Amino acid sequence: MNRSTDGTSCSVPRHVAIIMDGNGRWAKERGLPRLEGHRQGAERAREVVEWAADAGVKQISLYAFSTENWDRPKAEVRGLMALLSMLLPRELGRMQKNGVRLLTLGDLSLLPERAQKAVNHACHETRLNARIDLILCLNYGGQQEIIAGVKHMYHWVCEQPEPEKALESIGVEQFRDFLWRHDLMPVDLLIRTGGECRISNFHLWDAAYAELYFSDIYWPDYSKDELQYALNDFASRERRFGQTSEQVSKHG
Ligand code: IPE
Ligand code: IPE
Ligand code: MG
Repeated sequence: MNRSTDGTSCSVPRHVAIIMDGNGRWAKERGLPRLEGHRQGAERAREVVEWAADAGVKQISLYAFSTENWDRPKAEVRGLMALLSMLLPRELGRMQKNGVRLLTLGDLSLLPERAQKAVNHACHETRLNARIDLILCLNYGGQQEIIAGVKHMYHWVCEQPEPEKALESIGVEQFRDFLWRHDLMPVDLLIRTGGECRISNFHLWDAAYAELYFSDIYWPDYSKDELQYALNDFASRERRFGQTSEQVSKHG
């Protein structure tokens, strides 16, 4: 049995983060426009949150748009933003029914106003739900988050009566508080679909000790079984957090 970052043993990851990749290739293989892949991908996103909640996952982060995705063709970016504005209001009732609290991670200020409004409205409406947190990562980049954290920390340090002492007091736990969200648990399981084995600037800080799981499945083909394989795999891993296997099993 593995243990979470706070040392308690658990076989279900509390925080699952997913890099939902492969929408474009899924569409291309079918001779469809890339946007159709994104549309199908959005359907899977909605379902995976419900499957994860049923499995006992408490937080699920979905990488929906990275800071680097702005470099895609303008029509694709526009289409992705339009999808967001259109789908969120439509999904609201279902999120309420399933106890999904919507949170965001990333700099929303660069999103089109309509998308920002749809996201903020859904976050507000679902704020009291408590079954699972869906963290929608929009215009998110892990490096950008860390730079923002350093700037935030700098301002805090400058305001302290003894800045040098304050700077010395910053460790891993303290620095975490300067990142964009305070209420995220460490990522326990990071899943990437679509066959690529890279992190692509996702959750660089919070996934420091995440278990990684790569699947060849294109995101629009993701299924409940696929999620279950990843969860089973996670349950079979031994998380050592730098310790030896003997040390870890002693606590078990
Ligand atoms: C992931 O699918 C969705 C987003 C990045 C928005 P892709 O669009 O990257 O799909 P591929 O990698 O081109 O197949
Ligand atoms: C990562 O996928 C971003 C999202 C899933 C939103 P990409 O398809 O953009 O990643 P790279 O460019 O292949 O690394
Ligand atoms: Mg991709």
